[in-house]
Amino acid sequence: MSNPQDIPGQAPSSKLWGGRFSETTAASVEAFSASIQYDSRLFRHDIMGSKAHARMLVQQKLIAPEEGEAIVRGLDSIQADIEAGRFDFRPELEDIHMNIEKALTDRIGEAGARLHTGRSRNDQINLDLRLYLRDECDAFDTLLADLQRVFAQLARRYLGTIMPGYTHMQRAQPVLLSHHLLAYASMFGRDRARLSDCRKRINVLPLGAAALAGTGLPIDRAMVARELGFAGVSDNSMDTTADRDFVLETLFCLNLIQIHLSRLSEELVLWSSKEFDFVRIGDRYCTGSSLMPQKKNPDIPELVRGKSGRVTGALMSLLMTMKGLPLTYNRDMQEDKEPLFDALDTVRSCLAITTEMLAHTEFNTARMRAATTGGFMTATDLADYLVCKNLPFRQAHGLAGRIVARCQELQCELGELTLEEMQSFSPLIEEDIYTRLSIEGSVNSRTSAGGTARSRVEEALNTVEQQLGIHS
Ligand code: ARG
Repeated sequence: MSNPQDIPGQAPSSKLWGGRFSETTAASVEAFSASIQYDSRLFRHDIMGSKAHARMLVQQKLIAPEEGEAIVRGLDSIQADIEAGRFDFRPELEDIHMNIEKALTDRIGEAGARLHTGRSRNDQINLDLRLYLRDECDAFDTLLADLQRVFAQLARRYLGTIMPGYTHMQRAQPVLLSHHLLAYASMFGRDRARLSDCRKRINVLPLGAAALAGTGLPIDRAMVARELGFAGVSDNSMDTTADRDFVLETLFCLNLIQIHLSRLSEELVLWSSKEFDFVRIGDRYCTGSSLMPQKKNPDIPELVRGKSGRVTGALMSLLMTMKGLPLTYNRDMQEDKEPLFDALDTVRSCLAITTEMLAHTEFNTARMRAATTGGFMTATDLADYLVCKNLPFRQAHGLAGRIVARCQELQCELGELTLEEMQSFSPLIEEDIYTRLSIEGSVNSRTSAGGTARSRVEEALNTVEQQLGIHS
């Protein structure tokens, strides 16, 4: 059948949207604009959304019940073929939506051509991403809980081990190793809370916004929302088709997870150096040097730390893509997927390998304990002691500082000064100072809520274990 606008000798467009076109798309344009290479991973969610949409079209009498059934069956067979690796994705069909719609129409005929009634790819892609990310949020919650569980197990195993706590990478005050480990359990706990909050904003049905303005067809958005388990429907069709906030927010959540992993990795790299020698990562999780026979390298934490760059890059990339976009949908937004998928894959693998590796990591408790001596780490306790004797803190701080200087002169520890020597600085100092200056005394005195005293850490550990369903 010839089209009056056809250029003689050239076939008109065979695209699903090809009606008004008189020329076929340039092969270079098809190659340049196709997203099927990466958005094919959305197939399950695309099909899930289409099935719910088809059921609604039947309920609303926009298509016949037999057509609805044919669509659902056709989509199921397509899903089975994709899962079995039997489906031929075609770049000239651009994206996952049109690959599936075309296959459906090829399989079931006219009914397939009715599926796109009352919707647009602009609300459809938004729907697919929301369905996909909802699952991802749940999967990440599990991964994060697994990681928290390892921290809780380590904190339980090493309860009682004392190590230096650092500020500015200088020995600051003695702390329990378990306190340090539980700090990470707290961080990953916040990451879970952040994702679950983000999930609330993801969990809103965009379908029905259509191309940008809604539709005049009598669709039932609430029904589709119910079918797909959404908490509600989006409220402005223009905002809906223009919105990628939920992708950006997910990327930000992923970024904080990755940054937490990266800080942990940095500590593992540092702590496994001979200079620290605080930690031994299991051989199975380390690698050797092709040149230096003695080497055992912490490549896993190094890679996790290194991969933070691309995860942050993904967030920056999409922020920049969105920055200048007018409402509503613009094809630029197709550029959301590669960074998003890469960030998801990267953070997922980093979380999994870190959890596995930590379960095979041991701490050198003797080395940690030894590192608490020699740094005057109980100087704050000395100042606090004087505060308890009613000396203003600033004066107490100055006095403790002078006593530290004296120790440096004598090359001894705070607790090694004689009582006379100490009393020459202040008559407020009495015999009981020595328990306060001991490393254990210092740790256990820190009973403020969230502090490192063993009693507090045990409390915190019990809470975390309870939250994670660990029975100790
Ligand atoms: N592949 C497109 C994307 O990812 C789907 C939406 C396309 N819409 C359009 N009008 N071309 O953004």
